[in-house]
Amino acid sequence: MKLLTRAEAQVGPDLAAWRAVGGGEGLRRALAAPDAILTEIRDAGLRGMGGAGFSTYQKWAAVAAAEGAEKWVVCNGNEDEPGTFKDRFLLARTPHQVIEGALVAALAVGARHVVLYVNPRETEALEVLTAATAAWREDASFAALGAALGGELHLDVVESSGLYVGGEETAAIASVEGRFPFPRPKPPWPAASGVHGAPTLVNNVETLAHAVHVMARGAAFYRGLGRTAPGTKLYSLSGDVLRPGLHELPMGTTLRELITDHGGGMLAGRAFKAVFTGGPSNTLLTAEDLDVPLDFDSVRARGARLGTGAMIVISEGTSIVRKTAEYVTFFAESSCGQCPPCKVGTAQLARTLERIARGEGRPGDLASLESFARLLPGSGRCGLVDGAATVLQSSLERFRDEYAAASGSSATPRVSLPPIE
Ligand SMILES: Cc1cc2nc3c(=O)[nH]c(=O)nc-3n(C[C@H](O)[C@H](O)[C@H](O)COP(=O)(O)O)c2cc1C
Repeated sequence: MKLLTRAEAQVGPDLAAWRAVGGGEGLRRALAAPDAILTEIRDAGLRGMGGAGFSTYQKWAAVAAAEGAEKWVVCNGNEDEPGTFKDRFLLARTPHQVIEGALVAALAVGARHVVLYVNPRETEALEVLTAATAAWREDASFAALGAALGGELHLDVVESSGLYVGGEETAAIASVEGRFPFPRPKPPWPAASGVHGAPTLVNNVETLAHAVHVMARGAAFYRGLGRTAPGTKLYSLSGDVLRPGLHELPMGTTLRELITDHGGGMLAGRAFKAVFTGGPSNTLLTAEDLDVPLDFDSVRARGARLGTGAMIVISEGTSIVRKTAEYVTFFAESSCGQCPPCKVGTAQLARTLERIARGEGRPGDLASLESFARLLPGSGRCGLVDGAATVLQSSLERFRDEYAAASGSSATPRVSLPPIE
């Protein structure tokens, strides 16, 4: 069953049309019983769809409990990772679903500042959101929400820098403050100190869209939608499949079903080799994993990650080393440069991988890659460098032979030392 991508709910900025398909009910129920919102979100088992799958309840509860006269909600729509294209769909086609989710979150945590933080390349979404937010500001429920929160409510659309790193939560906060999107060390976590030092909730667009339905239809209904975990998930399916695109499926749908039943199978003449799950910053699943239920915990149990739900399918004949080199190059180019291990490490890693992919691997390269995979994680103030390390680690784990063959690691060293007299 579809929840977020129902055809009849794709009404653009028309608020009356959103109400006509059941919109507004989530906020209405939230306003009727504000104290019950957190319980409902907890019982629904909602997890963050921005990549980490973190408990939405825990995040909301932390901001709700934080001391602060002013609090903020930032809806993260930066979405700049290659292969991920779900949030732009939600923002442009069902903006009210996202805005209503952000307003429910604002009530739950006690925030009077709500920001929709959007990638400037999403011109359609920005236009739609400008009209959609204007419609909410005129709506009676908006005034009621302000009254419930004890003051004037602010709902704004803020353009991000369009840099990938600007989607990291502390970088997003800096951007909203009008500063360059440099990530900063955590703690303090945004829940304690975010926009202008105030407690701040940062949630992904898709997470907030799910929250509306939890509030409108209840936790039990939401849980029942999934097979092995609550709810549904948006998959950005791309690569060598017949029908790439956005697919909303129950949590626990298998990888095989996603590719075969919904993606139309592999392109003619192509055999399945692997999937980069969650996009470049994540992991690989292979043919052995085709029947793994796609939910955060089941995928993790296979040593991989669901991430944002981006699924980049590749076929036999595609070099894993080449793909990994492309992704690591993306990270190297996206590093903000503040942390030397990230700036220098990803650049060096990208050069090594590129060289191996060109067929100019050297003995010792494999050992060097393995030490990168071990040393890089956690060496930066944000997760960007971890993304590069994760994709490297996962591809080394599953396709070590390809690396060994390409880097000639089994061959004898090219340069031998002169004999000692
Ligand atoms: C380099 C980097 C880029 C990120 N980009 C995004 C993004 O574009 N959108 C997003 O929602 N989360 C992004 N994140 C994750 C956010 O830091 C944060 O965890 C997320 O917005 C939380 O939302 P959720 O709890 O609803 O998943 C990024 C993280 C890193 C390290």
